[in-house]
Amino acid sequence: MRTDRTFTMLKPDAVEKGHIGAILEKINASGFRIVAMKLTHMTTQDAQAFYAVHSERPFYGELVEYMTRGPIVAAILEKENAVEDFRTLIGATNPADAAEGTIRKLYAASIGENAVHGSDSDENAAIEGAFHFAGREMF
Ligand code: TYD
Repeated sequence: MRTDRTFTMLKPDAVEKGHIGAILEKINASGFRIVAMKLTHMTTQDAQAFYAVHSERPFYGELVEYMTRGPIVAAILEKENAVEDFRTLIGATNPADAAEGTIRKLYAASIGENAVHGSDSDENAAIEGAFHFAGREMF
């Protein structure tokens, strides 16, 4: 069996509203194994670098401000077909378009504050995981 990994962040709004437990329960119930996890607070420089791909987009400044306004939960998750299955579990970027039962449908307020991140490719999952975790923090 092929076992893949993805990277996730429970974003500041999800942490502020006390949704860490409910979201982790849904992640576990969906068959993902947590192989790394921590509560951390991104600096402005961290958030700018993490979302550098969006640096020319009009929402970049607000995105960086939002991602740095409080702590996040960063985690690496393992499951067969992890990247695609996790994107399905979290739902569309805009919660208004997200399917019923998805994490963003349940917990996200808006496209700008959408509760959770999920990597969009195996390559980005590896890059994003390494951005937040040292090798000795992954199990
Ligand atoms: P993106 O990588 O397109 O979405 P996803 O998180 O689903 O992979 O965008 C990154 C984040 O940028 C997204 O989670 C929320 C924010 N964003 C906005 O605030 N406005 C927008 O119009 C878009 C496309 C994204």
